[in-house]
This record gives sequence, C-alpha cells and structure tokens, in this order.
Amino acid sequence: MSIDEFDRLVEKLDLERKVRLLTGATVWSTHAEPGIGLRAMVTSDGPVGVRGEGWDERSTSLTLPSATALAATWDEDLVELLGGLLAAEARRKGVDVLLAPTLNLHRSPLGGRHFECYSEDPLLTGRIGAACVRGVQSGGVAATAKHYVANDSETERLTLDARVEEQVLHELYLAPFEAAVQAGVWAVMSAYNGVNGTTMSESPLLTDPLKTMWGFDGVVVSDWGGVRSTAPSARAAQDLAMPGPQGPWGEALVAAVRAGEVPEAAIDDKVRRLLRLASRVGALDLGSAVPPEPAEREDHGPARVLLRRAVAASTVLLRNEGSLLPLDPSRLRRVAVLGPKAAVARIQGGGSAGVYPMSVVSPLDGIREALSGIAEVLHSPGPHLDDRPTPLGTENARNPLTGEPGVLVRLLDAGGAEIHAEHRLTGRVLEPARIDAAATVEIRALLSPETDGAWELAVAGWGHVLLEVDGRVLVDEEVERDTDDPATVHLSPPYRRVRVPMAAGREVELVSRRRLDPGSGIASVLAADPSRRADEVELAAAVELAGTCDAVIVVVGSTEEIENEGVDRTHLDLPGRQDELVRAVAAANPATVVVVNSGGPMILPWREEVAALLLSWFPGQEYGHGLADVLFGRAEPGGRLPTTWAERALVSTAPDGGTLAYAEGLDIGYRGWLRQPEPPAYWFGHGLGYTSWSYDSLTLPSEAAPDGSLPVRVRLRNTGERAGREVVQVYLSRPETDVARPVRWLAGYALADAGPGEVVDVTVDIPARAFQHWSAEHHAWRAEEGAFTVLAGRSAADLPLSVEVLAGEQAPTPRKPSGERSLAVL
Ligand code: BGC
Repeated sequence: MSIDEFDRLVEKLDLERKVRLLTGATVWSTHAEPGIGLRAMVTSDGPVGVRGEGWDERSTSLTLPSATALAATWDEDLVELLGGLLAAEARRKGVDVLLAPTLNLHRSPLGGRHFECYSEDPLLTGRIGAACVRGVQSGGVAATAKHYVANDSETERLTLDARVEEQVLHELYLAPFEAAVQAGVWAVMSAYNGVNGTTMSESPLLTDPLKTMWGFDGVVVSDWGGVRSTAPSARAAQDLAMPGPQGPWGEALVAAVRAGEVPEAAIDDKVRRLLRLASRVGALDLGSAVPPEPAEREDHGPARVLLRRAVAASTVLLRNEGSLLPLDPSRLRRVAVLGPKAAVARIQGGGSAGVYPMSVVSPLDGIREALSGIAEVLHSPGPHLDDRPTPLGTENARNPLTGEPGVLVRLLDAGGAEIHAEHRLTGRVLEPARIDAAATVEIRALLSPETDGAWELAVAGWGHVLLEVDGRVLVDEEVERDTDDPATVHLSPPYRRVRVPMAAGREVELVSRRRLDPGSGIASVLAADPSRRADEVELAAAVELAGTCDAVIVVVGSTEEIENEGVDRTHLDLPGRQDELVRAVAAANPATVVVVNSGGPMILPWREEVAALLLSWFPGQEYGHGLADVLFGRAEPGGRLPTTWAERALVSTAPDGGTLAYAEGLDIGYRGWLRQPEPPAYWFGHGLGYTSWSYDSLTLPSEAAPDGSLPVRVRLRNTGERAGREVVQVYLSRPETDVARPVRWLAGYALADAGPGEVVDVTVDIPARAFQHWSAEHHAWRAEEGAFTVLAGRSAADLPLSVEVLAGEQAPTPRKPSGERSLAVL
C-alpha cells in the first residue's frame, strides 16, 4: 500500500477513533477498525517460541534454543531458518506480531535476562538478530526488536536511568537495533528504563536515530506498561501503548490534542505506521476485517530435525583432553548420566520469554535413546538443588473430580461459591478463565507419593495463600507484594514451603487457595517435590556409580531463581553442591564429560580437572537429541562463545540512586578483559570443535568493495582427522588513535567448512562501519586516517594472523592496489 492510501484511511477516522487505535484493546491485541478494513492484531512473546494470547499450558509451542545458544552458532542461515519456524508457529496460533528478538547486550554476566540476549558484541548481536528478523518476517509475521535501548540488566529496570556516553550508545547499544532496521524490522519495542535522563517511551532517541537517521518506518510499541505519560510520550515517537484497554493515552490524549499539547499530525503519523504494520502482516484491507483462521497444526517432524541440529550447532566444546569426545558407542557398556540437570533439564530461561514446550527431550532421554541396545545407561542426580519446588503435573497428580492426570482449578466468589471449574495440566496456573466476580483461585489435586519421607509442598501467589493437606491447614499467610516489576508480579510470586511426612502409595488430597486481590498478578501455584535422601548419600551414590562405568556424563546448571527476568544475578557460582559433585565424579572416573546447562556464564572452578567440558546453554526442546549427537560424534559441537566466560563480572548492574553509569564505556565483555592483567577463563569466540585448524594466510583485496567494505581472505587448513566447521573471526585494532577505542573489536566473521587435510579460503567482509567511530562532537560517524591492524583467528585472544591496512579519510577508500602484501593502502 502506498503512503497516499494510508493517508486516505487515516482521513476517514476522527480523532477519537485514531487515538483508540494507539492503545491495546486487550493485554495482547490491538483494536480493530472494521470501517477501514483493519482487524485486530495479536502480539505474543517470544523469543524461544510463540506462547500465543495468554498463558495456557494446553497451548504449546515449538521451543527453540535461547538467544545465547543461537548466537553461539554464529550461523545466520540457521538462525534465519529458525526464525521461519517462529513465523510458522505464530501463524498457527493466530499471532501477527512476535515480541522478539531481544537485542540488548551482555554488558555484564550478572544481567538476569542474559540468556535472552545474544552476545556481548554488537556486531554479532546485530547479525544474528537481523537473521532472526528476516526469518520471522519472511513468514509474514512482524518481528519486534526489543528493548530499545540500554535495557541490559534487570535491577530497577522500570525506573533506572542508564547514563551512557553518546559514542558508547551508538557504537555498542544502538548498533544491533540499527542492524535490525537495516534488515527491515517492522516493530521496535521501547524499553522501560530511561537513557540519559529521559524514560525510553518519551525519548528523543525514538526519533533520532531510529526514525530519521535510520529511516525506521514501522511501529514503536511500548514495553508492557512502559508508557506512563500522556502528552510527553505522545509527542515523542512512541506509536503504540501496550497493554490495553486502559492506559495513559485514550481520552486523555484526545484532550491533549484538543488542547494543542500534542499535534494531530503526530497522531496521524502513529496511525499511519500502525496501518503499515497491519498491511504487512495481512491485517488490513480484508474487506470483512475478520481474522484468518489459524493455520492447522502442521507436521512438526522437519522442525524438530532443525531444532536438533541447532542444539549441536550451538554446543560449545571448551575442553577435550586426550580427545575423550566424541565417545565411541561401540566401546561403551555402562554409561553414567549424573547431575541435577540430567533428567530434568532447563531448556529455557524464566520470565515473559517462557513458552510451554511441545515436548522435551532431556539429556538422559537423548543418551538412552542413542545407546539403546548398545550400552546400559544409569542415572543418579547427585545432591539436591534448592530450586523452587516443582508445580504439580500430569505425572504426579490427579484431578480429584475426574481422576484425570493433572489438577482441578476452581474460581470461587467472595462467599466461597464455585463460579467456574476446569481441568488443568499443571499446578502453576497463570490466568485461569477471567471472571470478574472471582475472588479466589483454588487448585485441588490428589498426589500419590512414590517415596516415603518428608515431601516439600509449596504454594505461591501474592495476597492471602492457603495450603491444606487432607483438610489440615499447613500454610495460611498474607504475602505482601513488594515489587512493581510485572515479570515478578505476574510470574514469580514467592513460594511458601512446608515439609510433610508422606507414606509411599498413600494418596493425599492437596488444596491451595489464593485470594485474587487487584494487581496481585496472574500466577497461583501448587507444587510438590518428593522426599529425598540426604545430600551426602546422593553424592556418594553418584560417585560410586561413576566409578563403575566406562564413561560419565554430568549435567550441571543454573536454576530458575538465578536466571530469570526481573532480577539480576548476585553471583556466578553454580548453585548447591554441584562443584563438589563434579570434582568427586571426575576423581572417580577420568572419562568424565561435564555439560553445563545455563543461559549465561558460570564459574567452573574445576574446569582444568575434568577431561571434557561442553556448554549447552538453554537449548530448547530437542536438548537430549542434539547433545547425544555431539557426545557420540554424529554432529560437531559447532558453538563458539558469544560472550566471555570469566571468574568475575567486570561491571555491576546495581544502580546508584536510580542511575546506572555505563562508566566502562566501550569496554564491555572481551573488550574489558583485554584491559585486565589476567585473562578470563574462556575468551569470546572460543570453542574447539572436533578437528583442528591452522591459519595459513590473511590477504587483503586489491581494493575495497563499492560500499566501502573490505573483503579480506583467510586461508586455513583442517589439520585434524574429521570434517569440521570453523568460525573465522576478524578483529581490528588501532594502537595510535585520537579517539576512545577498545584494544580491538570484532569486525567480521565467516564460517569455513572443510574435510580432513583440506585447505579453504574464506572471505570475511569487514564493513566500512568497522573502521569508523561515532563522533560526539559531530553527532555522526567519522573515520580516522592511517593504520589499522587486521587480525584473524579463532577467538578474541587467539589471532595468529595480522596485516596492517591504511585507511583514507573516508575509510576504507581504495587507492592503488599492490597485490598481496602486509600493508595495504586503502
Ligand atoms: C518484557 C517484554 C515482554 C513484555 C510482554 C515485559 O515485561 O520486558 O520483553 O515482551 O513484558 O510480556
């Protein structure tokens, strides 16, 4: 549709109708305007799947690896294909706008939503993010680049003011959003926080650079509840306030326009953008303005194959002493699969990104399947992890009314009378049917304990909570809300726990009730963890088993308490006694492979004591299959670190008096570690794979490409005995400089595939921008003349090849070529 056509539609609407379109109609959807052929558009989180409208465990989604895993692939083609899967899921669920990808940076490993962001490097984040955008939008579904901008940690995220210098803002934090706009993203989400004194829904950064300098022609949607004013946010380039139907715009905005506080032209521009978005996702000009029927559930077989491939492609091999991996199944008779994450893995992080997976293959399942008929697979979880107790589920609870696996949820009115009842599959009930008169949510279930001993039962929710076991009241408490953060309010209320002695096989009836106070969030939880043996006994059992097996795989990781939206991490240690478990098991059996199941960096104090070490991130539903492929050599561990793993965080995420100073400037992640006296545990870009490589030569082109980029050629040789894939990384440095710069910075990368002994040449494009810096004086990109060093290799610190290049005034403009040489004049 042309601009004129949008204008004609806008002209048909009076002010009230226009303004109405600019606030959500519901929590997840926009208003329809049938008079102009506009239907409602449905939004949904993302990014690892498509939850759909609302939170209902019966509406499952394909579950992709989380962002850190996707970035660890460094593989834009693969990520684009995965984006296509998200689009198909969105279509299946009637979703038009996916609230993904998250393009904030790993400023600190303490960031609670680290798992949901790609990398500490703006170039890698931008390239992987752009691939996701292309994939999602190729299916006619809008991607949403979020959270614009500097929402890089969670502490006080609603209110904190990030103080970021202009150069740093452009070179680091804005850069991935610019890449998304270049990829044609249709929506951008403004963040909750402020930057340099202005909250993002009112920020001038929405206009410049987003809409003017970069030419973004889509919709700026607020983060949920992020619009807090009428005129200032409406005057800013904020287009759509979510959720609705209440909000600070509506009638107040109509009045503000009439009072001359907000120009009507600003409203028209917002509506035009909304209509453009609608036409892009097929929500405009349908004649009847009726939503399309959601597509039928398709065969997910090919999708699962792709997800399985993605798990292997993102798994990072950090250590492989004596080439323990890949394990040869024909030499295995007994294999121990140990650790708290082996049977119940974390496939995704916590918070609004959460989806209900279609199915989950745990590491234990995947290994059992791979070794079926070949070797005996034995499991022992080791010491217990003190995570939130597990909500009741179909495997351990029955509906007392119908006997079906699951729980009975009842909504009661103020007098305690039932006004609604439904069968559900989980004891973590989010948003039961909305009924205004409901005063209490009750969850009821029959639990049949498999073990004797003290079970841990828990109830969670804000407001008054109650827990009864066979009619006995064990919890009866007021839980006062102490946060405004929507993720914590709605999704992570505190758990009230009790230990209750149970006898195996003696069924008990559990009842939880939570009073539904206004503003008390959507979650009500009834949870139960089985009685367990003492940690010492579990530890000894795991170690003993390890000693009797041909190989041991220990899966350790983080908990939901640690990596979650709405809170930052306070430390980087593995929780519980997992370090002790790994050490004891590795001492008992030298053939020990440790797999770390976390979204972000953890401290691994035993990392030099174990034979093999793999990082599997939060790998999505096909975890066990992809991991088994890597362990047994059916696939290469293709991942390279998208973020530095270190023993400490270089920068804090704790605001001081409401502000968070990005005082480290350009030096986040590896850039920061390059200035430290000691190295981190593992550098950005590192990862071993199953073969080895030699880097033979780095050649500059005779001239730069017409767009100013510099295609450099790296020759490398696969010196190992297996085919493999290498991520060839090119960095720039400029020791003599008049501007602030990191020691070196990633300037480009490319993937190289080669068979054993094969020599390959890969071209790595260094974009002109990589030679430039943002000048705060000129408010523009500038280039310094003179020498830059081009370095190539396999991580930020392992760069065997380098050449000098001379940049001209408008770097890098080609001058006279002189063939292959170590100094190129550009
Ligand atoms: C999160 C967003 C999310 C939105 C809707 C917010 O709290 O920051 O990432 O898309 O909720 O769930």
